[in-house]
Amino acid sequence: MVDAQRLLSRAMDIDRPCAARIYDAFLGGGHNFGVEREFVERLQTAIPGVAGVFRENRAFLRRAVEHLLARGVRQFIELGSGIPTIGHVHEVAGRRTRRFSVLYADNEPLTVAHSRPLLSDEPRAGIIQADIRDPTSILRSPEAAHLIDFEQPVALVMSAVLHFLEDADEPLRLVRAYQEAVPPGSALVISHLTGSEEPEPMNLLAAFYAETADPMVARPAEWIAECFDGFALQAPGVCYLGDWRPEPDQLVHRHSGYRILHGGVARKLR
Ligand SMILES: C[S@@+](CC[C@H](N)C(=O)[O-])C[C@H]1O[C@@H](n2cnc3c(N)ncnc32)[C@H](O)[C@@H]1O
Repeated sequence: MVDAQRLLSRAMDIDRPCAARIYDAFLGGGHNFGVEREFVERLQTAIPGVAGVFRENRAFLRRAVEHLLARGVRQFIELGSGIPTIGHVHEVAGRRTRRFSVLYADNEPLTVAHSRPLLSDEPRAGIIQADIRDPTSILRSPEAAHLIDFEQPVALVMSAVLHFLEDADEPLRLVRAYQEAVPPGSALVISHLTGSEEPEPMNLLAAFYAETADPMVARPAEWIAECFDGFALQAPGVCYLGDWRPEPDQLVHRHSGYRILHGGVARKLR
């Protein structure tokens, strides 16, 4: 069972690097501090080319959202959303349609504080401070009631977030809880770190993150595939993100990063 104590609102901690701002620094955003920039520099020295992993995740997220938009999905709940800059879900959706809504949720207080002004001009998107381990606090929030129609398909986006949960948090059970809350036609998008293909850079990355406010747990590729049980996987299935519907320019550069992020997209049939 998840320890109720650990669900208590996460305290503000700006002395240690945090996942949201490390990611922002790697993407070239302006919502990070010296502690994250110094961490990123050390990480790049230890794992040359590691920036490609972060860019790969963001590119996958864009392709996944575009894929779902093209198939009529108009509502998105992103759990562990980070700072919504530089091609985030509402920007990708807004380029294609005016009929969309996005609920972002993140448990890191400053991430949410940084996000609010970025979303203030966008009535179709909002963010709440909430923990993915407490589905009710997200699914039953006033913001969800305002933005999301649970009678219509909803894409549940868990991009680069489940690896921040411990096994004791029972991430598979959490995925099921979210799955049950959405109607047929809904979708699941997951990306997750794994050492199944390249254990060395994965172990090194995890060792670095152990000193941050967001330690990570890489999981086997088979475990990531299991997250999609009960959903109909969209081709090509669960794989290294660079192989998930790569675009022509990516085919050339596909192997520039490390094969440590796996994921996929699936639809809920029943
Ligand atoms: C690497 S960022 C990913 C951002 C975005 N999902 C993406 O893929 O572009 C991971 C985010 O998950 C958030 N996070 C970590 N643990 C969480 C939890 N238990 N509940 C909610 N958010 C969490 C972090 O604060 C961070 O913003």
